[in-house]
Amino acid sequence: MDSNPDQNPIRGHARWSAEPGWLNTASHGLPPDVAYEAMTLAQESWRLGRTDMDEFHAAGERARATFGRLVGAPAETIMASGTTSALLAPFAAGLPVGGRVVVPEVEFTSNLFPWLVQQARGVEVVTVPVSKLVESIDERTTAVAFSLVQSADGTIAPEADIVAAARAYGARVYVDGTQACGWLPVDVTRYDLFVVSAYKWLMTPRGAAYGYVDPDLTERTLAHAANWYAGAPDGDPYYGPPLRLAAGARRFDTSPAWFCQVGAAPALEVVERIGVEHIRAHDVGLANRFLTGLGLPSGDSAIVAIEQSDAQARLSAAGIRFSARAGRTRLAFHVYNTEAEVDDAIRALTA
Ligand SMILES: Cc1ncc(COP(=O)(O)O)c(C=O)c1O
Repeated sequence: MDSNPDQNPIRGHARWSAEPGWLNTASHGLPPDVAYEAMTLAQESWRLGRTDMDEFHAAGERARATFGRLVGAPAETIMASGTTSALLAPFAAGLPVGGRVVVPEVEFTSNLFPWLVQQARGVEVVTVPVSKLVESIDERTTAVAFSLVQSADGTIAPEADIVAAARAYGARVYVDGTQACGWLPVDVTRYDLFVVSAYKWLMTPRGAAYGYVDPDLTERTLAHAANWYAGAPDGDPYYGPPLRLAAGARRFDTSPAWFCQVGAAPALEVVERIGVEHIRAHDVGLANRFLTGLGLPSGDSAIVAIEQSDAQARLSAAGIRFSARAGRTRLAFHVYNTEAEVDDAIRALTA
């Protein structure tokens, strides 16, 4: 952050104005100034009655295209909505009666409840530890749904093995990239579905979520939230039948939360400019500095969870922000964080 700019090699790509001590990006990210300023300008236009709806639309399309480039997929395969769970809902509703979905048991509920609610229709949901996902996929499995990075403790799922097992049995692969996208490089075209709430590691306002949909899955799934914005781009979008949905994944769009998209487009562009591989090196480097400083083994994630019983009181007293999850203290390290902030956290926990 700006109080310690020399310690952050990413300075020069973008600026942030946050106070030191935000080690909580797994809860929500902080906006680069350029995103905050774009939103402030848009709100001022709204206040003065100068809003141009085409500008909101253009911001949404910039965000969609940038998200596509970040995850390695063309814009026509990208859908946009407000939350992970809303993006997942049509695909959960599209599971066949008698189908079987395998999900990690400590999965964040936005990627669990959409499947569990389908039990009422006769869909079977099996929950297992992440480490047992691969062996739990068999000929009865319709789909496997998992977070690439676990929200509770930052564990990276063994996605290559999961994909291989799913393909061997003809099961779909549905991935929640919310805790990964922005710091862990991904190639989403290997999955059937990849959804992301962008307000964490992609540093957008809350209310922007994007997803990749494999073209075959797009064709086979009913757009249960069909609306004017998901319509075909030519012709009158506003009134009357017939149903005329967009080709490609945008048929799953919900009409955009305008200000979120205005902030999202520049935030996503900052991530693209810095480069996700560069961000991974920075974020995991800070996480490992933290773990090593506590005498713990280093890892491969930007999120860590520690068990120290007085950790939360000590961190709070030092003004460090974190979250309590699954009985542990979760800290997350991202582009705007510095080695000085990590050292402050180590000092708070060990002094
Ligand atoms: C893995 C994961 N998915 C999704 C979300 C957010 O879901 P939603 O956008 O439905 O609120 C979170 C929030 O913590 C999360 O950790």
